[in-house]
Amino acid sequence: MAGIKEKTGPDRENPFLPENVAAFRRWRDAKLARAEESLALGDPVEIRDLSRPGDSERRELARRCALGNAAFYACPNQPDEPERIRDQLRAFAAAMGLRIAERHRSAGRGGIVALTVSNAEAQRAYIPYSRRPMNWHTDGYYNAPDDQIRAMVLHCVRPARDGGVNQFLDPEIAYIRLRDANPDYIAALMHPEAMTIPQNTEPDGAVRPASVGPVFSTDPATGALTMRYTARTRSISWRDDPLTAEAVAFLNSVLNGQEPFIQTVRMEAGQGILCNNSLHNRTGFDPDLAMDSARLLFRIRFHNRVARS
Ligand SMILES: [Fe+2]
Repeated sequence: MAGIKEKTGPDRENPFLPENVAAFRRWRDAKLARAEESLALGDPVEIRDLSRPGDSERRELARRCALGNAAFYACPNQPDEPERIRDQLRAFAAAMGLRIAERHRSAGRGGIVALTVSNAEAQRAYIPYSRRPMNWHTDGYYNAPDDQIRAMVLHCVRPARDGGVNQFLDPEIAYIRLRDANPDYIAALMHPEAMTIPQNTEPDGAVRPASVGPVFSTDPATGALTMRYTARTRSISWRDDPLTAEAVAFLNSVLNGQEPFIQTVRMEAGQGILCNNSLHNRTGFDPDLAMDSARLLFRIRFHNRVARS
């Protein structure tokens, strides 16, 4: 007769649940080794044709995403016309398994948002379309919890003359720092009402409903960690609980401190990042330029993750 087996199941193996101490330890050690490896990667992956990345290029991009949830790439032959780059980017993302694109109010052809200084009515109130710095966040933090952004491509068509520097951090590293400091921080940030972004009326009158949800959750499709976060302090409310406040303060101290896995990058023309929605920020740019800044980045966001990462 078979003996009674210890209960197992997907939850038991999920390293991100605070109660699973042994699974977390195993995952943590392996993750930190991968993160070290990703720091030593060197130059971005060179992509000869953005619209048709080759087998070895795709393998290397996926490998880097598996190590650190992000891969920088450089495309030395990007076309001169931004509209052609737009088409190529969609094909590039699809080649990396990214097919479930979000519908964004500012998306143009191909579901791609042009991040550039804009005076358009629908955009001028928003920091992404200004020269101003942007604080740490993951993309789509205001989306509903069942509408999470899990991957994105951010591609530099034209850099700023001055500034516009991005920093990136793998959300899994942020998770480890928090859990190492105090496992209760994780429980607080996994609470389904941890972070609320209040309802917002868009300039065109459309109403974006309040977004209530956790900071950390796991992707039901893959079991991977998903992070929803913004360091903004206006138009946000945190669950009224001392541990939540402490966890958020600790996370901000990591992001603004000497975290060795934060990568600082000023993307040049033709360079970009493919990532599983890394934490990122941006410095302001072209403050003294009398004419409009020419900085142009394309961004495309997805509800699924980079394939094989
Ligand atoms: Fe962003």
